[in-house]
Amino acid sequence: MDKLERLRETLERCDEVILNGLLMRDQIIEDIMAYKGSNGLPILQPEQETKQVKWLESELDGKRHREEVKDVFACIWDNSKRIQARNLFDHNIVLIGFMGAGKSTISKYLSTMFAMEVIEMDQVIAQREGMSISDIFEVHGERYFRDAETDLLIEMQAKRNMVISCGGGTPMRECNVAEMKKNGRVVLLSAKPETIYERVKDSHDRPLIEDNKNVPFISELMEKRREKYTAAADIVIQTDGKNELQICEELIQCLLEMDGKVK
Ligand code: S3P
Repeated sequence: MDKLERLRETLERCDEVILNGLLMRDQIIEDIMAYKGSNGLPILQPEQETKQVKWLESELDGKRHREEVKDVFACIWDNSKRIQARNLFDHNIVLIGFMGAGKSTISKYLSTMFAMEVIEMDQVIAQREGMSISDIFEVHGERYFRDAETDLLIEMQAKRNMVISCGGGTPMRECNVAEMKKNGRVVLLSAKPETIYERVKDSHDRPLIEDNKNVPFISELMEKRREKYTAAADIVIQTDGKNELQICEELIQCLLEMDGKVK
């Protein structure tokens, strides 16, 4: 056997080790999920990820191909997150709520925790139209924007394991609620008008409140929408005074209960 053949054989053995390690790893991920589920432990334990990152950094310290190996691990960890997400939910998660209720923030957090893809409806529509939401309202009118929302909700039904972050007004249309339900579970994030005010007061991309950024106006508009929001929601999560981790953990536990995956 010449040297090249020997090297190739050794490489094959390396691949076998990697392959078996990966298969074993994925099985352990599922075992951990099952253990957490049957022992009532929180699903999200971000400190564990921090530990893994630190471990890898120290293992790779001074090694050649450090960046390449880190790249592979990033991919492995993301895939483990996807396995967890698929185990937990076989549908899309649709987030609704008033402007500033935390839909975008919670979407991003879920996406980090579970490597889930996020569809930020406002952003997608603005991108497709090539203009900001405020400009769409001004140039084409609100109805045009609402139609775009309906179309996007229908389009998303072909996907799985996505987080769909709706615009604040999306559930106001009855047909939108029906399209949301075909996507998956609808989660309403709620907050007090005072909390909403604090979160939106410095932004300028919400035409409906741009000239009325004050608690009484926000409170009145929220009241007008309350009934439709509540009717659309499968689950309601109060966000006041909670951090992202607490909100997401509560959301996951509610979804699991709803799907009969925990008692
Ligand atoms: C709207 C909320 C906005 C955006 C548009 C209309 C509404 O989305 O869709 O300005 O009717 O409440 P956010 O809730 O993401 O700010």
